[in-house]
Amino acid sequence: MIRILLLIVFVTLLLLGCDNSTGHEPKDKPLYSKADFPIGVAVDSERLRKDAGYRDIVVHHFNSITPENGMKMDAVHPREGRFFWEEADYLVEFCAQYNKRLHGHVLVWHSQVPVWMEDYQGTDAEWESMLKGHVQTIVRRYSGEVSSWDVVNEAFADDGELRDTIWRHHIGGDYVAKCFRWAGDTDPEARLFYNDYSLPYNQSKLDAVLGMVDDFQHREPPVPIDGIGLQMHVTDSFPPMDSIREAMDKIRGRGLEVRFSELDISLNFLGIYTDLTEDMEQRQRERVFDLVDLYRGLPEDLRAGITVWGVSDADSWIRHHYHRMDWPLLFDEDYRPKPAFYGFMEALEY
Ligand code: XIL
Repeated sequence: MIRILLLIVFVTLLLLGCDNSTGHEPKDKPLYSKADFPIGVAVDSERLRKDAGYRDIVVHHFNSITPENGMKMDAVHPREGRFFWEEADYLVEFCAQYNKRLHGHVLVWHSQVPVWMEDYQGTDAEWESMLKGHVQTIVRRYSGEVSSWDVVNEAFADDGELRDTIWRHHIGGDYVAKCFRWAGDTDPEARLFYNDYSLPYNQSKLDAVLGMVDDFQHREPPVPIDGIGLQMHVTDSFPPMDSIREAMDKIRGRGLEVRFSELDISLNFLGIYTDLTEDMEQRQRERVFDLVDLYRGLPEDLRAGITVWGVSDADSWIRHHYHRMDWPLLFDEDYRPKPAFYGFMEALEY
C-alpha cells in the first residue's frame, strides 16, 4: 500500500515537473487572425528563449516580429570586423519555425552605435565604406529571411534639419540615400523603410521626410524606398487623430506604404499616477480602437502592418527609459490581455 502511495506521489511530482505552463495560455483567438495586414510585436530574444508565457503570446497572437534591440548596430557589430550573429540568427530561426515575418530594425541610427564606430578614425571615404560594409553584410546575411528593413532611423532633428550625427558629419547629407541604395542593391526583394517619431505632429520634420522621399523618387535611377514607419509612441489623447490621418494621407499620396512601427499608448506621460485605473484602461482601449480603425482605412497595398513595441507592460521600454510607471501595451504584467487588446481586436473585426 505504502509503495503504491509513494508511486502515486512520485508520478504526480514528475508530471508537475514536466508542466511548464504558465497558467495564462492565450485563450482568445489570435489577434492576427482577423487582420489582412501584418500584426507585429517587438521582442527580446532572451525572453523568448526563457519565458514560456512571453513566448506563448508572441507565437499565438502575432505574425510579424521586430527585434527590439537585437539587430541594432551595437548588437550585431560590436567590434570592428566582427559580427555577432547569435541573437539575430535565433530570431530568424524562430520566425522560420513559427512562420512569422521578420522586420529588421535597424541598419543605421545615431543611437546604440558601438563604441568602435563612434571612435572610428578614418578618412571620409573610409567612413563611407565602413558604413556600407555594415549595411551590406547584414542585409546579405538575412536576404530572403528579413522581409523588410528599417534602413535609417530618426535621421531628422525636430527642426526638420538633417540630424547632426557621425554619419552626416563624415559621409555628408547624402548618407541616407546611400544607405537605401546599398540595402536595395544587396536585397532587391526586401521592403525598405524610413522610420521616425513625431511625424504626425511635427510639421517641419514631416515636410523634411516627404522632401527626402520626393528627392529619392525623382533621382535617376530613383533611390529605392517602399514606405515610412511612424513610430507611434503616443498617449491616449496626443497626437490628435486628425493630425495622424493627415500625415498618413501625405505619405500615401507618394504611393508609399505606412507602418505603425512601434505602437505604445502611454497612460502616464507626466509620471503622476502610481496605479492603473479602469478609466485609464478604457481610454486606452478606445484609443487603440481608433488607431487600428484609422489604419484600416489605408488602401490594402499600402498597409505594411502595425507593430506594438513590446509584449507586456512590464517589458515596455518606457518604464526603464523614462524611469516612470506606465502601462502602454496590450498585456498586463501577468500576460493577461488588457482592455486595449480587445479594443485592437474589435477594430479588426469592425
Ligand atoms: C528602445 C528599446 O525599446 C529599448 O530597450 C532600448 O533600451 C532603447 O531603444 N525608437 C526606436 C527604438 O526606434 O529602437 C527604440 O527602442 C525606441 C525609440
